Amino acid sequence: MKSQDVRKQFLDFFASNGHLIVPSAPIVLKDDPTLMFNNSGMAQFKEYFLGNATPKSNRIADTQKCLRVSGKHNDLEDVGFDTYHHTMFEMLGNWSFGDYFKKEAINWAWQLLTEVYKIPKENLYVSVFEGNPDENVPFDQEAWDIWKELIDEDRIILGNKKDNFWEMGDQGPCGPCSEIHVDIRSAEEKALVSGKSLVNNDHPQVVEIWNNVFMEFNRKADGSLEKLPAQHVDTGMGFERLCMALQGKTSNYDTDVFTPLIEKVEQITGLKYTSNEVLNISEEQNKTNIAIRVVVDHVRAVAFAIADGQLPSNTGAGYVIRRILRRAIRYGFTFLNTKEPFINQLVAVLANQMGEFFPEIKSQQQLVTNVIREEEASFLRTLDQGLQLLENVVAETKGATVSGTKAFELYDTFGFPIDLTALILREKGFELDEAGFNAAMQEQKTRSRAASEVSTEDWSVLIPGNVETFVGYDQSESDVKITRIRKVDSKKDGILYQIVLDNTPFYPEGGGQVGDKGTLVSANETIEIIDTKKENNLILHFTKQLPENVNVGFVAKVNQDLRSLSSRNHSATHLMHQALRSILGTHVEQKGSLVNPNYLRFDFSHFAKMTETELQQVEDFVNARIQEQLPLIERRNIPFAQAVQEGAMALFGEKYGDHVRAIKFGESMELCGGIHVKNTAEIWHFKIVSEGAVAAGIRRIEAITSDAVKAHFASYENTLNEVKTALKNPQDILKAVHSMQEENAKLTKQIEALVKDKVKNLKASLIAEIQEINGVQFLAKQVDLNPEGAKDLAYELGNLGNNLFLVLATADEEKPMLTCYVSKELVAEKNLNAGQVVRELGKFIQGGGGGQPFFATAGGKNVAGIQQALEKAVEFVK
Ligand code: SER
Repeated sequence: MKSQDVRKQFLDFFASNGHLIVPSAPIVLKDDPTLMFNNSGMAQFKEYFLGNATPKSNRIADTQKCLRVSGKHNDLEDVGFDTYHHTMFEMLGNWSFGDYFKKEAINWAWQLLTEVYKIPKENLYVSVFEGNPDENVPFDQEAWDIWKELIDEDRIILGNKKDNFWEMGDQGPCGPCSEIHVDIRSAEEKALVSGKSLVNNDHPQVVEIWNNVFMEFNRKADGSLEKLPAQHVDTGMGFERLCMALQGKTSNYDTDVFTPLIEKVEQITGLKYTSNEVLNISEEQNKTNIAIRVVVDHVRAVAFAIADGQLPSNTGAGYVIRRILRRAIRYGFTFLNTKEPFINQLVAVLANQMGEFFPEIKSQQQLVTNVIREEEASFLRTLDQGLQLLENVVAETKGATVSGTKAFELYDTFGFPIDLTALILREKGFELDEAGFNAAMQEQKTRSRAASEVSTEDWSVLIPGNVETFVGYDQSESDVKITRIRKVDSKKDGILYQIVLDNTPFYPEGGGQVGDKGTLVSANETIEIIDTKKENNLILHFTKQLPENVNVGFVAKVNQDLRSLSSRNHSATHLMHQALRSILGTHVEQKGSLVNPNYLRFDFSHFAKMTETELQQVEDFVNARIQEQLPLIERRNIPFAQAVQEGAMALFGEKYGDHVRAIKFGESMELCGGIHVKNTAEIWHFKIVSEGAVAAGIRRIEAITSDAVKAHFASYENTLNEVKTALKNPQDILKAVHSMQEENAKLTKQIEALVKDKVKNLKASLIAEIQEINGVQFLAKQVDLNPEGAKDLAYELGNLGNNLFLVLATADEEKPMLTCYVSKELVAEKNLNAGQVVRELGKFIQGGGGGQPFFATAGGKNVAGIQQALEKAVEFVK
């Protein structure tokens, strides 16, 4: 069965059992401080379990792109070494939100596996939670009883908290689970060792394929469990492992999810991958296999993350993506001998394979390829430099052990991977001081952990069961009540309080636009709100000071001035997006944006630097629409499909509901949750202030509107006025500047002629001052010339004959300078070197310089040192 069909049958099965099929959420999470990436199917539904939001159906099924590369669930370092772990994988899942529970979930799982997929029952084992007295959670008798109806009792295993109590992270919804494991070993192996004894024992062919979690609890920040308001089901089945079982393979990498990618790597590298069926492979082949698995696994994670809008970078989620890609590049570099970028070529294969189900990878194939190619090229350069530096470290090493601190420096400053360092050292017969390396690493971790420490208390709920409403599209003030409060203590921001209201006019940071600021006002006090952010479905208002009385009514007031400036920048961003697509082409896609009261920043896909004309065209396009005074047409709550059909632009990597909000100004129509002007006239004027590259194929424009444009032009006018005054108020400034330039050129010419004369005269008088010392014609003297004059003079004197060693000092415009000339013969015979001379004498004038052995100069800061420098010059000939 092809993997495409495996996926389809899963979704069809649950659709026929009343489940709504939804698309995968983007792989990169927004608005969730506890999680960087989607690490499980349930992450996007967390708020439904907690009761903070209402699902659109209480039965849902999907396949979710997951990444387990950070936080509680992290498989990164295992990937490649085994045949069944991945960075990115698809998780097939079905959910009940307060609807069905254990009976239905278990029965459907069994029916799908054994009747639809036809996995022989004798290949399956299941596990049930044994209970945990410390947590006060009993043995899961109910699940046991349901399974007993379906499967022999001796195929049911009791599991402990580690294996059979599922938690998404340190906090959040959790509960006991029941796993299904499949034994895909050969009949001979099964006869020798029972499958039951291998469950949960890291056997590559006795693996968990499906986890059914019965969500009943919420893990609080203090570590305790509280009962959730309702009981839910969260299941997750590993798609790639299921394909392995159904395609009769013993490795995920031998399924059609991976074979096309592997074939491409083989074609590029000329190396061969051996399937898991091939036994007794050489050590060399094993290394090749591991490296190929690393590459084909990691390219999926990186490509999908980029397609969902997460570019590799030096911080946060972007850094994790960069590290995954670098791990792949390094395995290629060391074990596949790839010294040129090659991973990017796999994107086409991936797009071909998965583009039908995940269109984001197909439509952004070019961009993803470019970004990966650029990252590869730059990391390969780093590896090259690192190799050189490592050579130096080795050369300086006395003994056989290379310093761990030095290796850490290479790792930390240049991103040179430590295992590569160790490997190269081993090949050269050196050892790495691993303890030293680990100590340096630990020290740095402690430092950065301390810097990023955040402790978040549990909510204190003042009004339970309230679902906060956002009223900010219509109002900037509202009567509110506080529903919950939480204290957050972070090294970065100190102590802050987060407040949730029953309703709020405050816009939470999102869609690039910064969160509103403002106040909460009661009869007795005014509380400053310094920021507003979203966390899943909650809108959090940040304050440094808690109200004295939290139970009274407040008026929430948004700072209108700031909001209005941001909204002008936001609406201008939409117009600019439209302008870019119309002027550069529809390959332009938004790749990130920032909108605040001061300016707007917009990243987009485009392959070349924009020309001055294009930038002007974009400005004109936007300003024309400002002048047309286009009214805002805001449509709330229209069906997603209808909005897109009407031409609204949706972005990859954004999670949209079934019903969306569309913002229209004339022909510009975007799905957007932000705050906008009522009429484009409010933007007043739009001005681009910079354009540049942020990554391969991604450009960035920064621009300003309204008050900032006024300030911008005012500052230009100011400068111009100052220039005018400095030029003594001419009628025509430009003419005045031009005539000054002409005057200047004339004077420069005259000076050059004068200097030439002076050089001639000086030459005549200086010839007499040359002394002979030890067979060298020597002169060291300060002359009243500019640096060019000194150079001319040195050459003039040098041309007179052989054996001249000359040091001239000048102090033109109070800048001391030494000029040294050494005849070629002296360079060869007496080993005199002008470069070395000026470096040493340069110390006296507090400066330095260099040049060639026969001519060099040094500039400095200390005019008073000239005399001493000239006196010392003679020592070179003595
Ligand atoms: N949340 C569970 C898991 O990820 C089941 O979906 O394993």
